[in-house]
Amino acid sequence: MSKEAPVAEGRIHEFVTHSGSDTVEVGRKLVQLLAPPQLLILRGELGTGKTTLVKGIAQALDAAEPDEVTSPTFTLLHEYDGTREGKQLKLYHLDVYRIEGERQLESLGMEELLTPDALVLVEWGEKFKSIRKKATGEISIASAGGDARKITVTLRD
Ligand SMILES: Nc1ncnc2c1ncn2[C@@H]1O[C@H](COP(=O)(O)OP(=O)(O)O)[C@@H](O)[C@H]1O
Ligand SMILES: [Mg+2]
Repeated sequence: MSKEAPVAEGRIHEFVTHSGSDTVEVGRKLVQLLAPPQLLILRGELGTGKTTLVKGIAQALDAAEPDEVTSPTFTLLHEYDGTREGKQLKLYHLDVYRIEGERQLESLGMEELLTPDALVLVEWGEKFKSIRKKATGEISIASAGGDARKITVTLRD
């Protein structure tokens, strides 16, 4: 799946990390690139660090501490209130790995999430055409041997 072309073509930013805490740090830095509204697909094999990256993003937005950000694999959707550049922001963290088909996805009500003040981050979002179509970009994480990860952010213009 990670070999497919990115869902979005546009501005690209790359980072390399060597630990989970490094990736949290990159998440904190990324926030400046992510002016809402954004619907970003988080791609990468299981255990590459998608949820770990969200910990940093949530922390930088004063939305949650890293420990409070857990995987939405079973809960499907986690919602946080944050601020960015002095403005209120909604952070939505989803994991659609367990969702089977567009019908089930619809019942999640993703449509309503992408308000002007929203940052929507969807792990495994590339599985669904409807999400790929609406995405404003993607963050892809690839293992680069051992604990090293290459993080590529692609944002539509
Ligand atoms: N460079 C790294 N970046 C992110 N996570 C890393 C890194 N090196 C090791 N890890 C570990 O890999 C795991 C990633 O888990 P998680 O973020 O839940 O992955 P995913 O959400 O992609 O399934 C964590 O246990 C984390 O500590
Ligand atoms: Mg995860």
